[in-house]
Amino acid sequence: MEFANESALQAYAERLAPQLQPGAVLLLDGDLGAGKTSFTKGLARGLGIQEVIKSPTFTIVREYESGRLPLYHMDIYRLEHGGAADLGLEEYFEGDGVSVVEWPQFLGVAMPEAYLLVQITKDPADDAKRIVKLTAHGAKYQALAAIR
Ligand SMILES: Nc1ncnc2c1ncn2[C@@H]1O[C@H](COP(=O)(O)OP(=O)(O)OP(=O)(O)O)[C@@H](O)[C@H]1O
Ligand SMILES: [Mg+2]
Repeated sequence: MEFANESALQAYAERLAPQLQPGAVLLLDGDLGAGKTSFTKGLARGLGIQEVIKSPTFTIVREYESGRLPLYHMDIYRLEHGGAADLGLEEYFEGDGVSVVEWPQFLGVAMPEAYLLVQITKDPADDAKRIVKLTAHGAKYQALAAIR
């Protein structure tokens, strides 16, 4: 999928949100500034969350409880050199909310078994454009991966 600008990408995430079930795990892959936090903001809007979504880089996890489902927004960029295993992130993944993880390549052994992988890529020729690819890891994510 291609999105011409940030609002188009966020509108897509907003459409995805009503289809998310309790315990859903979304791993957001993409470079610095790809739009992972931006995507999460759209998702939060679609869940009906009122609070302002802030990047959780320094807190690792931010929890939002005001929507249809709780949102657990994680950014583990700081755990580049390990340590994700000791955080108990599994409790979020197994909880009743929606877990969203930025920089999932640093999860190590904390990597969940089933998840929706959201890969966001910048277009080198167009600053505002993003290419998004969804891949289901686990049967329960197949319907989600097909949403356009
Ligand atoms: N189509 C687009 N979709 C998303 N963001 C876009 C788009 N076009 C431009 N942008 C800009 O790109 C930036 C994306 O920043 P964002 O914080 O979401 O990235 P990130 O992937 O979370 O980065 P980080 O790894 O640093 O957390 C924002 O400044 C946003 O305005
Ligand atoms: Mg971010």
